[in-house]
Amino acid sequence: MNEVIILGIESSCDDTSVAVIKGNKILSNIAANQEIHNEYGGVVPELASRAHQLNIVPTIEKTISEAKILQKDISAIGFTSGPGLLGSLLVGTSFAKSLAMSLNVPLIEVNHLQAHILAHFIEDANPQPPKFPFLCLTVSGGHTMIVLVNDYFDMKILGKTIDDAAGEAFDKIGKILNLDYPAGAIIDKLAKNGNENAFKFSKPKVADYDYSFSGIKTSVLYFIQKETKKNPNFIKENLNDLAASVQKTIVDVLMEKLEKAAKELKINEIAISGGVSANSKLREAMMQNHEKLGWNIFIPKFEYTTDNAAMIAMTAKLKFDRKEFSDLQVKARARVEGV
Ligand code: KG4
Ligand code: ZN
Repeated sequence: MNEVIILGIESSCDDTSVAVIKGNKILSNIAANQEIHNEYGGVVPELASRAHQLNIVPTIEKTISEAKILQKDISAIGFTSGPGLLGSLLVGTSFAKSLAMSLNVPLIEVNHLQAHILAHFIEDANPQPPKFPFLCLTVSGGHTMIVLVNDYFDMKILGKTIDDAAGEAFDKIGKILNLDYPAGAIIDKLAKNGNENAFKFSKPKVADYDYSFSGIKTSVLYFIQKETKKNPNFIKENLNDLAASVQKTIVDVLMEKLEKAAKELKINEIAISGGVSANSKLREAMMQNHEKLGWNIFIPKFEYTTDNAAMIAMTAKLKFDRKEFSDLQVKARARVEGV
């Protein structure tokens, strides 16, 4: 039997991404980034949806040609229906509907957060996929949550952030430190030459498996305001140490709750996903727990961690196997409760 070929479209935020999957193997995965937001220090929703409109057709054409398939080989169209920015989601949703209709193939809606987790099942994401049940720390610019994954589509959020997401904390603190947006990867790089114990920032106290990151941001802001009054060059002179100390604080907070969940639920299959899982300190902390606590760890390849359509195509493939198709009335939804 021929393997199923699915085209996935992701447009929930500021990347227009398209991928083609054959079975569980990605044939092509292309993202058109929107640099237009950098000068605003964050994603501007109106500009994002306009850029999606410009990018979507060329990105689809490029992805199909790179996958070396023909349109008639496509068995279904998967797309992100939410959560995300409504204007951005609408572009992907309407395009997916018309493409499915014109090719006369099934349409499959995908929950973006489920997809971040199911990215672990892409053939080359990990040497081996995680075994059920596993825990997945999903950390991105929009989300921070610990999810108990009992099966592909049987997931439970154990805890989540009550305010900012971890990536948002990296980005907002980056702004305080006069860094470009998004600042996560920049802080990660600077931190490599810094002393992570140089400065202490207050850690949040939140119940159970929930997180909070807005207090860390405020603690950094007040500290910087106080120090720059004494020395206007304080940030410049201490940038590496500041980056390392901020990164350590955020990663410690992320890992404390993850370790608590792993211990209390007696699970040692532990995965991370989302843009912040690219962070080298977080990866190092996972590696340490592999050695110290015997965790089997799953950190997907970089291209499957930040927003991408490969994870959308993978999730659509798993839904295709279950014949979970959507009708043309399906709507984009900015908010989606649960995973
Ligand atoms: O998953 P993603 O691409 O988009 C969202 O769904 O939000 O995640 C983007 C976030 C940004 O906040 C960015 O600063 C952060 O991931 N990020 C990092 C690193 N690379 C990206 N944060 C810390 N360290 C990194 N190396
Ligand atoms: Zn995401």
